[in-house]
Amino acid sequence: MSNLIASTAPKARQLTHEEIHDIEHEKTHYPYAQAVGLEALKIVQKYQGWVSDESLLAVAEYLKLPPDELEGVATFFNMIFRRPVGKNVILLCDSVACWMLGCDNLKAHISSKLGIDYGQTTADNQFTLIPVPCLGDCDKAPTMMVGDKTYRNLTPAKIDAILAQCKRG
Ligand code: FES
Repeated sequence: MSNLIASTAPKARQLTHEEIHDIEHEKTHYPYAQAVGLEALKIVQKYQGWVSDESLLAVAEYLKLPPDELEGVATFFNMIFRRPVGKNVILLCDSVACWMLGCDNLKAHISSKLGIDYGQTTADNQFTLIPVPCLGDCDKAPTMMVGDKTYRNLTPAKIDAILAQCKRG
């Protein structure tokens, strides 16, 4: 009977040669393979843009880690995206210093300019907006990251310039 029911559970995909190469390289920095979990997820994200269930299972299989454990790592580390994201991910700090210096207004500015709320991606797939805790630059609040770049002392005008620059690629 159970054979007749199609399974919809995700299955591990095949990691690419590039992903395996980078994970193997990362393993040389750690005393045992299992410690590489987070770095391996970052590698997959670098190549795929985000970490699907199939990718997470592939990493778990490759490193011989329980998938639940790896899921816990992915959930704890908020820079691992478990859903598809746009080409540019805006990580807007909403912790205390940034909040005191107006990150809510900046969020409203971004939302009205791009037509997206937190967790959403623009229709042209250019931008995703995500709130993040303190980026460690409180003395230059408000701050945000786009890709691996941090932007400080933000104003609506600065944000407009950054978004225009991102669009130009
Ligand atoms: S509170 Fe935003 S950088 Fe620290």
